[in-house]
This record gives sequence, C-alpha cells and structure tokens, in this order.
Amino acid sequence: PAPGWSIEADVVVVGSGVAGLTAALRCAAAGRRTVVVTKARLDDGSTRWAQGGIAAALGEGDTPEQHLADTLVAGAGLCDEAAVRTLVTEGPDAVRRLIATGARFDTEPGGDTMALTREGGHHRRRIAHAGGDATGAEISRALVAAVRTQGLRTVENALVLDLLTDADGRTAGVTLHVMGEGQHDGVGAVHAPAVVLATGGMGQVFAATTNPAVSTGDGVALALRAGAEVSDLEFVQFHPTVLYLGPDAEGQQPLISEAVRGEGAHLVDADGTRFMLGQHELAELAPRDIVAKAIMRRAHEQGTEHMFLDGRHFGAAMWEQRFPTILAACRAHGIDPVTEPVPVAPAAHYASGGVRTDLYGRTTVPGLYACGEVACTGVHGANRLASNSLLEGLVFAERIADDITAAPARRPGPAVAPTAAPVPLLAPEARPVIQRTMSAGAGVLRSAASLSEAATALARLLRDAADPAPAGDAGPPPAAADGPKPAEPGVEAWEATNLLMVARVLVSSAMRREETRGCHWREDHADRDDTAWQRHFLVTHRPPHTLHSRTTETAA
Ligand code: SIN
Repeated sequence: PAPGWSIEADVVVVGSGVAGLTAALRCAAAGRRTVVVTKARLDDGSTRWAQGGIAAALGEGDTPEQHLADTLVAGAGLCDEAAVRTLVTEGPDAVRRLIATGARFDTEPGGDTMALTREGGHHRRRIAHAGGDATGAEISRALVAAVRTQGLRTVENALVLDLLTDADGRTAGVTLHVMGEGQHDGVGAVHAPAVVLATGGMGQVFAATTNPAVSTGDGVALALRAGAEVSDLEFVQFHPTVLYLGPDAEGQQPLISEAVRGEGAHLVDADGTRFMLGQHELAELAPRDIVAKAIMRRAHEQGTEHMFLDGRHFGAAMWEQRFPTILAACRAHGIDPVTEPVPVAPAAHYASGGVRTDLYGRTTVPGLYACGEVACTGVHGANRLASNSLLEGLVFAERIADDITAAPARRPGPAVAPTAAPVPLLAPEARPVIQRTMSAGAGVLRSAASLSEAATALARLLRDAADPAPAGDAGPPPAAADGPKPAEPGVEAWEATNLLMVARVLVSSAMRREETRGCHWREDHADRDDTAWQRHFLVTHRPPHTLHSRTTETAA
C-alpha cells in the first residue's frame, strides 16, 4: 500500500527489546536522528519475558574463553567462532554499560558482588539476574526509561511492512502500518538510510510457545521479501521446562526458567525418578536440546505428555524471593511448586537462526542491519546456549550503532517504493492453521514424513491465497477459480502472511537437513553427520513464491 505519511530520520530501529533500544540509544547518543518503531508498546516484546538472565564471564575465576567453550559445545559444530569470540569478550563490558544505563541486577548479601546463577550447558555460575526471575523486565524498564529520558522519537503500535530502497538498491527506510497513533495512523513510511531490524523471534509459528503474541517473524519475512539472506531457521530451540497446561494449550505458555534447575530443582518422571542422572555429566543442566529430548523420550516411554520439575526442597521463602514470577504463574494455574512437583514439557522458545549478518550486524542488503533474535550472527549455531540471547542483543546492537555512526550521516536517495514484490496476503484465520501444522510436523521431533505433510499444508495455504504462479515457477499450482478470495490488508493478515513465509523456510530447511544436530531432531536421521551437514543453508526468496537455498561451510 502507498504510504500516507512519512518521517525523515538517519536511523530507524524496528523493535524495542534489548537489541533495538540499545542500538537506538547508542545511535542517538552519537547525534543521529533516531526513530524507534515497535509493533505494540515499547516494553511488549520478548525481552520483558526473559527470566533466567544474561550470561557473561563476570564471576571470579570465569573467563571469556570458558564461556566461548560452553557456547561452542551447545552450538553443535555450527557456531561461527569469530562471532562467539566477539560475544564473550565484549559481553562483560556491555553488561557493565547496561548497568550504567540504569539496569539493577541482583547482588549477593552485602550488596557488592553480583549474584550469578547457572543454567543448562554452562560449566560455571555466570548468569546475572534481576528481580529474582524477572531479568528481562528490569532490562526493559531501564532501557525504556533511558529512551524516555533522552527523548528519542518513538512510534508504537507500528507493524513494519516492507523495506524501501533507492535506485542503487540501498536501504531508504521502511513502510509501516500504525494502529491508532493520531497523525501517524494507517500506512506510512520512515525514510532513513539505515534500518536496524530488532523485531525479535517467530515463536508464534508454533501452537505452544514461550513467546508473546507479537513474535510473528515480521523481521525475517521483511528481510526475505527485500532479498536478504536468512540462515539456520531449522534450528528452533524448544525450552525443556515450560509449564504443561494440557495437550490443547495454545499461544504463549508460562516459562519455568532453567535457573530453577540451576539452583537445584530436579527433573523427575511419573514415578518420581531423576531420569537425567546418567544421561549427561551435567544431568538436569545439560544443554537444553539434550534435556528436551530426554523429557520427550521418557514421557513417550511412560505414555504421558510431560515430566515434573521438583523444587519442593527450596521451601517457600526461597521460591518467594528467588522465583517470584514463576511461583505466581504456577499458582495462577492451580499448581504450588512449594508443595508439589510442577508438570513441564518442551515448547518453542527461540529461533537460533534468522537474518544472516556479519560481525557488525550488516545483512546482505546495504544499509539493512539485524540484531537480537531476528538475526543470525553465527553465535548460536545449531543450539543457543542459555542466556546468551540478551547478551547477543546488547553486544551486536552496540556494534551496529558503531558501524552506522562511523560513517558520516547521509540522506537516502529517493525511495523507489517497497522493493518487495507483493506476496499473497493470508486471511487472519490462517494463523492457527499454520501453528497447528507446524507443531504437528516440524516440532521438537521431525521426520521426512511429518515435514512433508507440513510442507503440503503450507503450500495449500499459499495456493489458496495466491494468484496462479507463472510457468516454471516452483511455487504452488494455481488456485481453483472458485477458491478463497484475497484477504483484506490489515495487521492480522500481514502477521499471518509473515508466519507462512518463515514457516515455509523453516520446513524446507528442516527437510533438507537429513541429520540430528543441536535442536534439530530428525527421528529418521538420528545421528549428527559432519561429513554431509556441517554447513548452513542460506535462503533467499524469489518472488512470487520460490525459496532458493545455497549452502556454505562456514558461518558468514
Ligand atoms: C530461562 O530462563 O530458562 C530462559 C533463558 C534463555 O532462554 O536463555
């Protein structure tokens, strides 16, 4: 749609989690006219829901080298070591700068030393936390306060639609749909030569997820439509311990932080046996793909849908002080962790892949950057190490801001309309269909058969929404003349369209990867195969429907 209003800026940051606000504050501090646009309210993204904390080698005796080693092990052979080294060496100072911005982390009694906990895959206590189990909420509070204090321009309730480019193919801004913001209502544009995507994840592509309703893959879908490369979407991390609310539970589910296990809670099966003992040297604190798989296997053996997390030995005082958010969430669902084991099962949690970037967050489209969950910097490989994501958002947002502000400010060339070729718009009703399809066919356990069923169902949705594909295109066959009519443009329709786009990439990459590695678990290819698959798929979208994939041996 043609923009009805526009704003001029040097930088537009899309998204307001830890990555977006860190990038925005640093660009603004360097004197750049910075606009933050965000789909809901400033504090409505995934950052606010982060519980466990932020990992960095801050503790006595810990080193970036040890953090690097744990990250590489979790990443199962697909991390970009240079990106991980950047993360772990720049991480501690980035956390200190976050504290200087106003974030208050928990300290040991006495108040001088930061309290650090452990989570899966970490051999040391290196997870800083705030408010017990409300780390993301505190980080969000501090960053939003800084944005307000420093008077950054913000546009809330703004769904990003597409990238604008100039005649040379350089970034020239974004189009947005803004809902109910007075002078900026409806479809408009922010013109800027630098666009930072910090739109978060895509957990809503599955039926049950820890992600909020806004996590619909908008940034990845925009980047694909703009011709950027995305990578590693098959590596969806399923958090092992999400409160189990029944087989039909849908939407955002309550997370039970790894930190609960880090502080000594046990995973037990239906008989009360600690089934992680003997499975991995770290038992309950093994990397989360291993714990998620063990939960699924044991549940299958016992003919149940979930396992239990037993923290009764903590006692009421510890639950109240250390895990107040989790305690309240469990009690709201009628479960009291002080007196009973908590039913838990894996649910979709984090996209380890995303828009491919280099070490400065640059995508393959000039002037388009990505950081945070939307990005694939190479630090997570096939499985993100717990609590590395807030850190990644911080470190790479700072690097992006430094890259943008190192060059003189410039005006973008005149935008030549959204570069993206229109894709068929889905009706909002497609969203639950996509979610159920993905959970059934591309969830924690996958096979050629389940993925192929998912691919067929997704192709049907696309076909129902699409115009007939041109001859020779690998897209769907033409829709029947009496088939469903195109959806009305609107936020829910665009979200469903974005979900379909990312779901298709995820499924096609998961089908192609005929091995089990990290959080990609193929029941028909049970082993990791370094000879054939120690590589990444770099996917681009070719309008109107085709996904093109090439492989690369090394990240970036
Ligand atoms: C958690 O608190 O378990 C989540 C931490 C993370 O996903 O990194």
